[in-house]
Amino acid sequence: MGNAKKTLPGLEKLPRHVAVIMDGNGRWAKKNKLKVALGHRRGVETLRAIIRESSDLGIEALTLYAFSTENWKRSPEEVGALMDLLLEFFTSEIDELDREQVRILILGDVDAMPPRQRYALYNAMARTKSNTGLKLNIAINYGGRAEIALAAKRMAKDVQSGLLCADDIDEQTYSRYLYTCDLPDVDLMIRTSGEMRLSNFLLFQCAYAEFDFPAVLWPDYTLEEYHASLLRFGSRERRFGGR
Ligand code: FPP
Repeated sequence: MGNAKKTLPGLEKLPRHVAVIMDGNGRWAKKNKLKVALGHRRGVETLRAIIRESSDLGIEALTLYAFSTENWKRSPEEVGALMDLLLEFFTSEIDELDREQVRILILGDVDAMPPRQRYALYNAMARTKSNTGLKLNIAINYGGRAEIALAAKRMAKDVQSGLLCADDIDEQTYSRYLYTCDLPDVDLMIRTSGEMRLSNFLLFQCAYAEFDFPAVLWPDYTLEEYHASLLRFGSRERRFGGR
Protein backbone atom coordinates (compact mmCIF):
# COMPACT_ATOMS: atom_id res chain seq x y z
CA MET A 1 0.00 0.00 0.00
CA GLY A 2 1.12 3.53 -0.73
CA ASN A 3 1.39 4.77 2.84
CA ALA A 4 2.79 1.63 4.50
CA LYS A 5 5.56 2.24 7.06
CA LYS A 6 5.88 -1.42 7.87
CA THR A 7 5.20 -4.75 6.21
CA LEU A 8 4.70 -8.09 7.91
CA PRO A 9 5.34 -11.53 6.39
CA GLY A 10 2.11 -13.03 5.10
CA LEU A 11 0.30 -9.72 5.16
CA GLU A 12 0.80 -8.83 1.52
CA LYS A 13 -2.92 -9.09 0.74
CA LEU A 14 -4.38 -6.47 3.04
CA PRO A 15 -8.00 -5.35 3.11
CA ARG A 16 -8.54 -1.79 1.88
CA HIS A 17 -11.27 -1.17 4.43
CA VAL A 18 -11.43 -2.78 7.88
CA ALA A 19 -14.45 -2.27 10.16
CA VAL A 20 -14.47 -3.23 13.83
CA ILE A 21 -17.21 -3.81 16.40
CA MET A 22 -15.24 -3.39 19.62
CA ASP A 23 -17.28 -5.76 21.77
CA GLY A 24 -16.63 -7.08 25.26
CA ASN A 25 -15.59 -4.11 27.40
CA GLY A 26 -18.39 -4.79 29.89
CA ARG A 27 -17.55 -8.48 30.22
CA TRP A 28 -13.85 -7.65 30.57
CA ALA A 29 -14.66 -5.29 33.45
CA LYS A 30 -16.87 -7.89 35.14
CA LYS A 31 -14.23 -10.60 34.72
CA ASN A 32 -11.69 -8.31 36.39
CA LYS A 33 -14.15 -7.14 39.08
CA LEU A 34 -13.96 -3.56 37.86
CA LYS A 35 -16.55 -0.94 37.03
CA VAL A 36 -17.77 -0.99 33.42
CA ALA A 37 -16.24 2.47 32.82
CA LEU A 38 -12.80 0.94 33.39
CA GLY A 39 -13.57 -1.70 30.79
CA HIS A 40 -14.29 1.05 28.28
CA ARG A 41 -11.14 2.88 29.35
CA ARG A 42 -9.09 -0.23 28.64
CA GLY A 43 -10.98 -0.51 25.36
CA VAL A 44 -9.65 2.89 24.35
CA GLU A 45 -6.08 1.59 24.85
CA THR A 46 -6.78 -1.22 22.37
CA LEU A 47 -8.39 1.23 19.96
CA ARG A 48 -5.32 3.48 20.05
CA ALA A 49 -3.04 0.56 19.26
CA ILE A 50 -5.23 -0.69 16.39
CA ILE A 51 -5.43 2.79 14.85
CA ARG A 52 -1.65 3.19 14.96
CA GLU A 53 -1.04 -0.27 13.53
CA SER A 54 -3.55 0.24 10.72
CA SER A 55 -1.84 3.50 9.83
CA ASP A 56 1.62 1.87 9.94
CA LEU A 57 0.50 -1.04 7.75
CA GLY A 58 -0.91 1.37 5.18
CA ILE A 59 -4.51 0.20 5.47
CA GLU A 60 -6.64 2.70 3.56
CA ALA A 61 -9.69 2.90 5.84
CA LEU A 62 -10.55 1.81 9.38
CA THR A 63 -14.08 2.19 10.73
CA LEU A 64 -14.80 1.69 14.43
CA TYR A 65 -18.19 1.36 16.13
CA ALA A 66 -17.90 3.53 19.25
CA PHE A 67 -21.50 4.40 20.14
CA SER A 68 -24.75 3.21 18.59
CA THR A 69 -28.10 5.01 18.63
CA GLU A 70 -29.23 2.19 20.97
CA ASN A 71 -26.39 2.78 23.45
CA TRP A 72 -28.29 5.75 24.96
CA LYS A 73 -30.44 3.07 26.69
CA ARG A 74 -27.54 2.12 28.99
CA SER A 75 -27.36 3.54 32.54
CA PRO A 76 -26.67 7.29 32.84
CA GLU A 77 -23.42 6.40 34.59
CA GLU A 78 -22.17 4.26 31.68
CA VAL A 79 -23.35 6.73 29.01
CA GLY A 80 -21.60 9.51 30.96
CA ALA A 81 -18.38 7.50 31.13
CA LEU A 82 -18.48 6.87 27.36
CA MET A 83 -19.12 10.57 26.67
CA ASP A 84 -16.16 11.49 28.90
CA LEU A 85 -13.92 9.00 27.09
CA LEU A 86 -14.96 10.34 23.70
CA LEU A 87 -14.19 13.89 24.72
CA GLU A 88 -10.88 12.85 26.27
CA PHE A 89 -9.90 10.86 23.17
CA PHE A 90 -10.68 13.61 20.68
CA THR A 91 -8.93 16.21 22.83
CA SER A 92 -5.79 14.28 23.73
CA GLU A 93 -5.17 12.31 20.51
CA ILE A 94 -5.97 14.91 17.87
CA ASP A 95 -2.44 16.38 17.65
CA GLU A 96 -0.80 13.00 17.10
CA LEU A 97 -3.46 11.79 14.67
CA ASP A 98 -3.11 14.99 12.67
CA ARG A 99 0.68 14.66 12.66
CA GLU A 100 0.31 11.10 11.38
CA GLN A 101 -1.85 12.42 8.50
CA VAL A 102 -4.92 10.53 9.75
CA ARG A 103 -8.18 11.85 8.29
CA ILE A 104 -11.06 11.65 10.76
CA LEU A 105 -14.67 11.25 9.73
CA ILE A 106 -17.54 10.76 12.17
CA LEU A 107 -20.37 8.56 10.95
CA GLY A 108 -23.66 9.27 12.71
CA ASP A 109 -25.86 12.01 14.05
CA VAL A 110 -23.23 14.38 15.45
CA ASP A 111 -25.75 17.23 15.82
CA ALA A 112 -27.64 15.26 18.47
CA MET A 113 -24.51 14.84 20.63
CA PRO A 114 -23.98 16.93 23.80
CA PRO A 115 -22.38 20.33 22.98
CA ARG A 116 -18.80 19.68 24.13
CA GLN A 117 -18.59 16.33 22.32
CA ARG A 118 -20.23 17.86 19.24
CA TYR A 119 -17.63 20.62 19.16
CA ALA A 120 -14.72 18.18 19.59
CA LEU A 121 -16.03 15.90 16.84
CA TYR A 122 -16.57 18.70 14.32
CA ASN A 123 -13.17 20.14 15.21
CA ALA A 124 -11.46 16.76 14.63
CA MET A 125 -13.09 16.41 11.22
CA ALA A 126 -12.35 19.99 10.12
CA ARG A 127 -8.74 19.87 11.30
CA THR A 128 -7.87 16.61 9.55
CA LYS A 129 -10.03 16.80 6.43
CA SER A 130 -7.14 17.32 4.00
CA ASN A 131 -4.90 14.65 5.52
CA THR A 132 -3.76 11.93 3.16
CA GLY A 133 -3.04 8.96 5.46
CA LEU A 134 -5.36 6.47 7.16
CA LYS A 135 -9.05 7.28 6.73
CA LEU A 136 -10.26 6.79 10.29
CA ASN A 137 -14.02 6.67 10.60
CA ILE A 138 -15.64 6.53 14.00
CA ALA A 139 -19.32 5.66 14.23
CA ILE A 140 -20.91 7.68 17.02
CA ASN A 141 -24.66 7.95 17.58
CA TYR A 142 -24.83 5.74 14.51
CA GLY A 143 -27.39 3.24 13.21
CA GLY A 144 -27.13 1.46 9.85
CA ARG A 145 -30.83 1.56 8.99
CA ALA A 146 -31.03 5.23 10.00
CA GLU A 147 -28.09 5.93 7.67
CA ILE A 148 -29.88 4.19 4.78
CA ALA A 149 -33.13 6.07 5.52
CA LEU A 150 -31.27 9.39 5.73
CA ALA A 151 -29.63 8.74 2.35
CA ALA A 152 -33.07 8.07 0.82
CA LYS A 153 -34.40 11.31 2.30
CA ARG A 154 -31.44 13.31 0.96
CA MET A 155 -31.81 11.76 -2.50
CA ALA A 156 -35.55 12.53 -2.49
CA LYS A 157 -34.79 16.16 -1.65
CA ASP A 158 -32.25 16.35 -4.48
CA VAL A 159 -34.81 14.84 -6.89
CA GLN A 160 -37.38 17.41 -5.70
CA SER A 161 -34.99 20.29 -6.29
CA GLY A 162 -33.91 18.95 -9.69
CA LEU A 163 -30.32 18.12 -8.70
CA LEU A 164 -30.86 14.40 -9.25
CA CYS A 165 -32.95 12.46 -11.73
CA ALA A 166 -34.92 9.56 -10.13
CA ASP A 167 -34.13 7.28 -13.10
CA ASP A 168 -30.40 7.79 -12.51
CA ILE A 169 -30.49 6.37 -8.98
CA ASP A 170 -28.44 3.19 -8.82
CA GLU A 171 -26.20 1.51 -6.24
CA GLN A 172 -23.34 3.94 -6.87
CA THR A 173 -25.60 6.95 -6.49
CA TYR A 174 -27.01 5.50 -3.27
CA SER A 175 -23.59 4.91 -1.79
CA ARG A 176 -22.62 8.54 -2.45
CA TYR A 177 -25.45 9.65 -0.12
CA LEU A 178 -24.23 7.53 2.81
CA TYR A 179 -21.88 8.84 5.54
CA THR A 180 -19.18 6.67 3.94
CA CYS A 181 -19.57 8.37 0.54
CA ASP A 182 -15.90 8.42 -0.50
CA LEU A 183 -14.83 5.14 1.11
CA PRO A 184 -14.46 1.73 -0.49
CA ASP A 185 -16.87 -1.05 0.61
CA VAL A 186 -15.91 -2.88 3.79
CA ASP A 187 -13.56 -5.78 2.99
CA LEU A 188 -13.13 -7.15 6.50
CA MET A 189 -15.56 -6.85 9.41
CA ILE A 190 -14.12 -7.86 12.79
CA ARG A 191 -16.28 -8.34 15.90
CA THR A 192 -14.51 -9.31 19.08
CA SER A 193 -15.86 -11.22 22.10
CA GLY A 194 -17.25 -14.18 20.15
CA GLU A 195 -20.60 -12.54 19.32
CA MET A 196 -21.58 -13.06 15.69
CA ARG A 197 -23.97 -10.24 14.89
CA LEU A 198 -23.81 -7.10 12.77
CA SER A 199 -25.88 -5.03 15.23
CA ASN A 200 -27.02 -2.46 12.66
CA PHE A 201 -23.45 -1.54 11.63
CA LEU A 202 -22.62 -0.60 8.01
CA LEU A 203 -25.48 -2.67 6.57
CA PHE A 204 -25.13 -1.33 3.02
CA GLN A 205 -21.32 -1.25 3.00
CA CYS A 206 -20.86 -4.90 4.12
CA ALA A 207 -22.56 -6.50 1.10
CA TYR A 208 -19.38 -8.45 0.20
CA ALA A 209 -17.41 -8.18 3.45
CA GLU A 210 -15.50 -11.08 4.94
CA PHE A 211 -16.30 -11.62 8.64
CA ASP A 212 -13.92 -12.44 11.46
CA PHE A 213 -15.10 -13.22 14.99
CA PRO A 214 -12.13 -13.58 17.36
CA ALA A 215 -13.24 -14.99 20.71
CA VAL A 216 -11.30 -12.44 22.80
CA LEU A 217 -12.82 -9.47 24.61
CA TRP A 218 -11.94 -6.10 23.07
CA PRO A 219 -9.54 -4.94 25.85
CA ASP A 220 -7.62 -8.23 25.35
CA TYR A 221 -7.44 -7.92 21.55
CA THR A 222 -3.70 -7.53 20.97
CA LEU A 223 -1.76 -6.56 17.85
CA GLU A 224 -0.96 -10.26 17.40
CA GLU A 225 -4.71 -10.96 17.36
CA TYR A 226 -5.17 -8.16 14.82
CA HIS A 227 -2.45 -9.62 12.60
CA ALA A 228 -4.17 -13.02 12.87
CA SER A 229 -7.47 -11.44 11.73
CA LEU A 230 -5.67 -9.86 8.77
CA LEU A 231 -3.94 -13.16 7.92
CA ARG A 232 -7.27 -15.01 7.96
CA PHE A 233 -8.64 -12.36 5.60
CA GLY A 234 -5.65 -12.87 3.28
CA SER A 235 -6.36 -16.59 3.06
CA ARG A 236 -10.02 -16.19 2.07
CA GLU A 237 -11.05 -16.63 -1.54
CA ARG A 238 -13.38 -13.80 -2.51
CA ARG A 239 -15.63 -14.40 -5.49
CA PHE A 240 -18.14 -11.52 -5.25
CA GLY A 241 -20.85 -13.81 -6.60
CA GLY A 242 -18.72 -15.21 -9.44
CA ARG A 243 -16.92 -18.61 -9.68
C1 FPP B 1 -19.00 -2.73 23.44
O1 FPP B 1 -18.70 -3.34 24.66
C2 FPP B 1 -18.37 -1.44 23.37
C3 FPP B 1 -19.05 -0.25 23.35
C4 FPP B 1 -20.52 -0.17 23.39
C5 FPP B 1 -18.34 1.03 23.32
C6 FPP B 1 -16.99 1.03 22.66
C7 FPP B 1 -16.32 2.25 23.09
C8 FPP B 1 -15.02 2.41 23.36
C9 FPP B 1 -14.00 1.38 23.13
C10 FPP B 1 -14.53 3.68 23.96
C11 FPP B 1 -14.99 4.98 23.38
C12 FPP B 1 -14.57 5.23 22.00
C13 FPP B 1 -13.70 6.18 21.57
C14 FPP B 1 -13.57 6.47 20.13
C15 FPP B 1 -12.85 6.95 22.49
P1 FPP B 1 -19.86 -3.71 25.65
O2 FPP B 1 -19.88 -2.71 26.75
O3 FPP B 1 -21.15 -3.86 24.90
O4 FPP B 1 -19.35 -5.09 26.17
P2 FPP B 1 -20.22 -6.27 26.79
O5 FPP B 1 -21.02 -6.84 25.66
O6 FPP B 1 -19.18 -7.21 27.31
O7 FPP B 1 -21.06 -5.67 27.88
